[in-house]
This record gives sequence, structure tokens and C-alpha cells, in this order.
Amino acid sequence: MEVIISPTPEESARLGADIIAYAMKIKPNVVLGLATGGTPVCLYDELIRRRRDEQLDFAGVTSFNLDEYIGLPGDHPCSYRHFMQEHLFNKINMKPERTHVPDGMAVNIDQECLAYEHKIHAVGGIDVQVLGIGTDGHIAFNEPGSSLGSRTRIKTLTQKTREDNARFFEGGIDEVPRHCITMGVGTIMECRKLLLFAFGEGKAEIIAKAVEGPMTAMVPASALQMHQDVVILVDEAAGSKLKLHDYYNHIYANKPAWQKS
Ligand code: PGA
Repeated sequence: MEVIISPTPEESARLGADIIAYAMKIKPNVVLGLATGGTPVCLYDELIRRRRDEQLDFAGVTSFNLDEYIGLPGDHPCSYRHFMQEHLFNKINMKPERTHVPDGMAVNIDQECLAYEHKIHAVGGIDVQVLGIGTDGHIAFNEPGSSLGSRTRIKTLTQKTREDNARFFEGGIDEVPRHCITMGVGTIMECRKLLLFAFGEGKAEIIAKAVEGPMTAMVPASALQMHQDVVILVDEAAGSKLKLHDYYNHIYANKPAWQKS
């Protein structure tokens, strides 16, 4: 795992955008995995800026989002489809038909989950997957206890996750759905490259557990320790409880120039 501790979230976002832009350069039809939540917003702002100022071209890009609430239509202001339209898709030149978010209104949820896996497979898999991390250690909506081999499926959200996400709902926690469709840990582990972002003091403890603790289904993000190409992009606050904090900085400072894309 490569751990890059930056002074600010904006700097982490720039580094993440560099990795994504490089992937787009070497493969214009790259398949990106995208995430929602507060964390990736600065990354999306940076990608939008590069589209505007540097003509970064998303025309060939395909995307798959990690998850969606069950019961919210795509035009609901709190649906993840709506989030993606507002925070990224409406502001870059991606082809709408190449953007995929699970359908939380699907009549047959199991079939929707299976079809989602097939769609990912049909385009050759995900090249670069953006991830956040929940304060309970979830990646996507794989809550503690999720099988580390799990695939796209229905999950029941924990009370903690519903509390964390209540801030996005006008009516508070009562409006937060109880179920979601989420890519599984196994689905995520098949992505060729993973970029996990975390910012702020509130994420420091779980980042330390995920990166340096034992691998366990109780901290689904710890499964990333078994992936061969993961970059953990944190700000100082989120990286503050890492035991090897200084070593990670030393590695990054001494990274050969040819490895810095
Ligand atoms: P956040 O959520 O970015 O809003 O903190 C992260 C997550 O739950 O994965």
C-alpha cells in the first residue's frame, strides 16, 4: 500500500486527479469506479477544473458508482445518481449512457445486482476505483461483518452510517433509507487500482485500523491490505494516528521521479 499524507484535502485531490488523468491518457476509454459522500467532492472539483482549464477529455470514459440507496429514484436530491449528476457528470463531457449507478428503484434487486456485475465485466473491469471510508470502516456500503469476498448485493445500513449520512437529508435520520445496493468487497478487490481518500480527524482512527490493523471483516477497508495496487490519500488530520506516519512521508519524499505519475 502506498500511503500519501498531504497537508490539505485539496492537495490529496490534486494527486488523485493526477493519477486519474494519467490513466485517461494511457487509456482514453478507461473505466473509472466512482464514490459519493463528502470526501470525493474536492477530487471531482479538481477534475471539473481540469476539464474547463486543460480540456481533460472524458468522452471515452465509462464509470460505475459503488452504491445507491434502495427506494430513492435517480432524481431524488439525496440519491447517489443525483449526487453524481450535480457534483461531476453535468460539469464534464462524459457520455450519459456510459455513467452507471445501481438502480435503487429496481423491482428485482437481486437481478439488478447481478446485471451490475455483468456490466462491469462486459467492459473489461474497473481500471481505477475511487473510495472513501466510513467511520465504521466500510468501503462502499460494505458494513462491518461484510464478507471480504462479497459481490454486488443488497445491504442493511448500520445505525452509525445512517447517523453519519443524516446530514444530507433535510428531514434528518428518519428519511435515511435502511437498505442499499453496494458493490461487494470482492468486486472492489478486482479493480486494477484503488484510490482511497480520507480527510479530517474523525477518520484518523479508522484509517490507522484499516491500513495498519489486522485484516478483518469487522473493518472491511482492511481487505485493501491484500490488493496489489492501492494508494491511500489522506490529509494530515486523517493520517495523524498512523504508526508509520514518518516512514510513509520518507517513502514519498524519496520516490523515484519516474514513479511519480
Ligand atoms: P464521507 O463518507 O465521504 O461522507 O465521509 C465516506 C463513506 O461513507 O464511504
